Amino acid sequence: MTNAFEELLNIGIALSSVHDLDKLLDMILLEAQRLTSADAGSIYLVEDNKLIFKTTRSNTYFKRWGEKKTREIFKSFELPITKQSIAGYVALTSKPLNISDVGKISGKSEFHYNSTMDKQYGYKAVSMLSVPMLDMNSKIIGVLQLINSMKKRKPVSFTKKHERITAALSSQAAVAILNAKLTEELKSAHLDTIFRLSAAAEYRDRETGNHIKRVSRYSKLIADKINLSKYESELIFWASPMHDIGKLGIPDVILQKPGILTPEEREIMENHTVIGGLILKGAKADILAKSRIIAMTHHEKFDGTGYPQKLKGNAIPIEGRITALADVYDALCSKRCYKDAFPEEKILKILNESRGTHFDPKILDVFLGEYDEVRIINKQFADKEEDFDKFIDVKKINISDLLRDTQ
Ligand code: C2E
Ligand code: SIN
Ligand code: SIN
Ligand code: FE
Ligand code: FE
Repeated sequence: MTNAFEELLNIGIALSSVHDLDKLLDMILLEAQRLTSADAGSIYLVEDNKLIFKTTRSNTYFKRWGEKKTREIFKSFELPITKQSIAGYVALTSKPLNISDVGKISGKSEFHYNSTMDKQYGYKAVSMLSVPMLDMNSKIIGVLQLINSMKKRKPVSFTKKHERITAALSSQAAVAILNAKLTEELKSAHLDTIFRLSAAAEYRDRETGNHIKRVSRYSKLIADKINLSKYESELIFWASPMHDIGKLGIPDVILQKPGILTPEEREIMENHTVIGGLILKGAKADILAKSRIIAMTHHEKFDGTGYPQKLKGNAIPIEGRITALADVYDALCSKRCYKDAFPEEKILKILNESRGTHFDPKILDVFLGEYDEVRIINKQFADKEEDFDKFIDVKKINISDLLRDTQ
């Protein structure tokens, strides 16, 4: 048998390689349960000076309902960090609590066990071990709570050894949790930046940010229905907003011209695909590489008459064929500086006439097959009058509001 230290070291190494916070928390709980023979456990994380219930595992409930249903029942809730609750007490004092029987906590005690859930679902919590999760600077980042250490199918008290081993586990876990949070933070900053950069191109085009939101959702809707992996489909969702990023390089007089473009202007306009490719050239991240392909190919046409390369049929990358349809559909639905929004019959007529010429028939069929969902997206992300306000007069914008904005 490996010794406890070696085992913990191995768990710590395993934990440090998990970057998905939910998976990580579940893994921590599972290990804690295993090391203490606990029937159940939960993890709370400290966020905004509150304890947020993040995840739970329960052998009893998993057996009764399965994991999915159990997690639906025990949805996230928050606790104030006060001495009244056990988790709050542990968070405030940074000391573990090892309670032999939560039913026998004295009325004089500062903390109490909340048995509402147990009563509702006919469970009896007896022993409980609640330990603080402390980071490298002994700052509390969460609380790990274990319930009913089982021996011969009966709940018994958690031992001193259990206390030591969960304390060691929870400090390893704390480091892994902070890493996973940082990864999530970086990922969301990264995605937000991509989205805002795309919005910058749309801003010059006098379009609201909604065009790219709609295009991105139509594209994912199609991608989900054809044989693409979940990851590919997710990439298309995040990459498609950048399809027109190259419009940043097109002069305003052309981009915002109220009428039809001359052939010379049209030629310059078509460069937005290649400029997009140049902006994204050499990008290593999957999303940006996908954005480059989409920027380069969203104006190719299935019959080989598109631009910039006149690619034909399946020589056009699938993401280009998908976003071509999503983009044109949305352009037809929308008012542009050079055109009004079209009525639905006219749009559907144009789409159907473009089957096999502009659009890949397979993709058009998928799109039309999901038309109810398309309508929902169209409605949900419709352009509102106030979305255009930002184009009117920057002087009218409340600057102090912008500065204070925490969103
Ligand atoms: P966009 O406005 O986002 O339009 C995207 C694509 O939707 C167009 O690509 C075109 O394939 C389709 N589309 C838009 N309006 C219509 C329409 O009234 N009828 C039909 N059948 N299809 C339409 P395209 O043509 O390659 O244009 C690319 C971009 O060039 C447009 O993006 C827009 O920014 C600009 N553009 C195109 N034509 C004109 C124009 O006549 N005047 C001005 N000012 N800009 C134009
Ligand atoms: C969002 O979810 O608000 C923007 C993401 C996108 O549509 O690209
Ligand atoms: C996401 O998870 O929101 C998209 C990020 C990715 O696919 O890498
Ligand atoms: Fe375009
Ligand atoms: Fe577009």
